[in-house]
Amino acid sequence: MTPKPEKARILTIFGTRPEAIKLFPVVHALEADPRFESMVCVSAQHRQMLDQVLDIARIVPDHDLDVMQPDQTLDALTATLLTGLGKVMDAVRPDRVIVQGDTATAMSGALAAYYRKIPVDHVEAGLRSYNIYHPWPEEVNRRIIGAMASLHFAPTRTAADALLKENTDPARVHVTGNTVIDALHWVTARIEAEPALADGLADLEARFAGRRVIGVTSHRRENFGEGMRGIAEAIRTIAARPDVAVIFPVHLNPNVRKVMKEALAGLDNVALIEPLDYPNFARLLDLSDIMLTDSGGVQEEAPALGKPVLVMRETTERPEGVEAGTAKLVGTSAAAIVTELSTLLDDKGSYEAMARAHNPFGDGKASARIVELLANEIGYEA
Ligand code: UD1
Ligand code: UDP
Repeated sequence: MTPKPEKARILTIFGTRPEAIKLFPVVHALEADPRFESMVCVSAQHRQMLDQVLDIARIVPDHDLDVMQPDQTLDALTATLLTGLGKVMDAVRPDRVIVQGDTATAMSGALAAYYRKIPVDHVEAGLRSYNIYHPWPEEVNRRIIGAMASLHFAPTRTAADALLKENTDPARVHVTGNTVIDALHWVTARIEAEPALADGLADLEARFAGRRVIGVTSHRRENFGEGMRGIAEAIRTIAARPDVAVIFPVHLNPNVRKVMKEALAGLDNVALIEPLDYPNFARLLDLSDIMLTDSGGVQEEAPALGKPVLVMRETTERPEGVEAGTAKLVGTSAAAIVTELSTLLDDKGSYEAMARAHNPFGDGKASARIVELLANEIGYEA
């Protein structure tokens, strides 16, 4: 048996906003644990949207690859990530690498670690839609990471079962809960201690007082083009109602911004705003009556807060919210989105049936479990 290091050096890799949100609780837990030396490498696949999270979580990366280019292609991005992350691993020589989810950064980080025979541990493992084009390219990214991972931290039993069905060694699959709930608890406590952190929407709240607020986010690649146009048309139609207001922090991806600005700029009760930092987005979740989204993370956060969430996708790799009745798949056709929104706005029974706090995604202790499982794997005493 290889002797265990005095302190295990863990390199946590991320690059986009959702990875940063879901990994900052793990980084905090590693930093607080004397058994580990925590190092962070950001690819900066996102720049401003990543930096917003690093700021609030007070994480200063040890390495920053700064790879973001405007409107970059997937192949150029992946090539840059793979070589860049490999070089960082050669310099850091970590004992283990952590990646999260399904982005290009996560997949490239796992592959670079595998090429060096460094064990790679996967946070939010086992999500499957079983459709390689929905979400695209994330469904395949996740499966690739799963093929190489040492420890699989599944957020739910459903995700763990998906891995077992693929003949993953059961001893290496652990149900931990989703770290997004840890992040949400953490940010809620920060806001309670310092309310000014989340007062960025005060003007809009005053402007839209008395209206039902629909919070919107959208960015999925498979929705570019026709899907985005359908979403924009639905928002335009529903915003014609005098009792409704829409608050839409628009993703910085130019494929999203162009369509939304052209279709929605200048409408009285539609606020197209810049991406919100995490405390202010938590505030948006709280003040919204309904969330309309194609985001993965928002599908997990909204049910935890008892907000009905309409998911603008054909399938979801997060069936738990749909099964519980707090989330509904509505696709991207304008007519279908408007019908579902109108039902929630006009039919109190339908609204109340969805607006139940329900949290299949975790209890806020996922990162503590993950760190203990890592320690156990390395051979440290609890
Ligand atoms: C990426 C992930 C997706 C994840 C999403 C979260 C991949 C293939 N996709 O998609 O899984 O759900 O992030 O948001 O890994 N941009 C900026 N500033 C930023 C962020 C993005 O200007 O802070 C613009 C740039 O022009 C960039 C473009 O958005 O090229 C797209 O970013 P990219 O990371 O390639 O893909 P996303 O669509 O954001
Ligand atoms: N989010 C945020 N500000 C915003 C929009 C979203 O902080 O303006 C957070 C949200 O709370 C969630 C995460 O970003 O935790 C979701 O990221 P995104 O939708 O970009 O990616 P996905 O989850 O679909 O991969």
